[in-house]
Amino acid sequence: MNSQAARKPIMLTIALSKGRIFEETVPLLAAAGIHPEEDPESSRKLILGTNRPDVRLVIVRATDVPTYVQYGAADLGIAGYDVLLEHGGEGLYQPLDLDIARCKLMVAVREGFDYEAAVRQGARLRVATKYVESAREHFARKGVHVDLIKLYGSMELAPLVGLADAIVDLVSTGNTLRANNLVAVEPVLEVSSRLVVNQAALKLKRNEVQPVIDAFASAKAPA
Ligand code: ATP
Ligand code: PRP
Repeated sequence: MNSQAARKPIMLTIALSKGRIFEETVPLLAAAGIHPEEDPESSRKLILGTNRPDVRLVIVRATDVPTYVQYGAADLGIAGYDVLLEHGGEGLYQPLDLDIARCKLMVAVREGFDYEAAVRQGARLRVATKYVESAREHFARKGVHVDLIKLYGSMELAPLVGLADAIVDLVSTGNTLRANNLVAVEPVLEVSSRLVVNQAALKLKRNEVQPVIDAFASAKAPA
């Protein structure tokens, strides 16, 4: 076999979640010359081709993006900082904050619940959240005693039905809190989404990975 025939193009796999991250990533991909062949909102396919035969997208749950990249099932991915802190970041290189999907992780309570007084009195609070690692660190730093209850969604319901005194959840416009008679009482974390790269892929596929990092860096919204 001559060397020309033996040289197969190196495939790059990028893990994305559908919804806001996919939508906000399309312009960044375009800047890297990558155009998805299908829209994950209308397609049931989990592996999407692109205009480039050497680049494909895998569509996974937002929470699963770091895991796919950590184990090398995807070379690159885009994940919220909230998700990355829960994952721990093992095996991931995080070269870029992309400044997309911006929101805040906040403590929120039912309207009328005196959070400050409860904290002052040293009450033990029940806190429902999907973000147990960030919440644990936040309350430990403040010296507030909490029992954390892990939920997987619709945190806003928990204080309304007596499951928890407070929640730790993402807030953007505040509409979801308002619609459920909840108020934000304390910031935990500023959140935006980051590019993550498998550490081995960064070394072994440097010639393919680095141009994507560079294109995303030039295309991202100025700070
Ligand atoms: P999963 O599907 O894994 O349960 P999810 O439903 O939180 O996760 P998305 O709603 O697509 O997934 O959110 C993806 C990321 O976007 C979050 O990790 C967070 O960083 C950010 N995000 C979540 N909600 C908002 C919001 N209301 N406004 C802006 N960014 C948000
Ligand atoms: C996120 C988050 C909040 C909401 C906050 O939910 O979990 O519920 O956004 O945004 P707001 O302050 O603008 O109302 P999302 O819309 O992603 O729904 P999901 O958690 O069911 O995916």
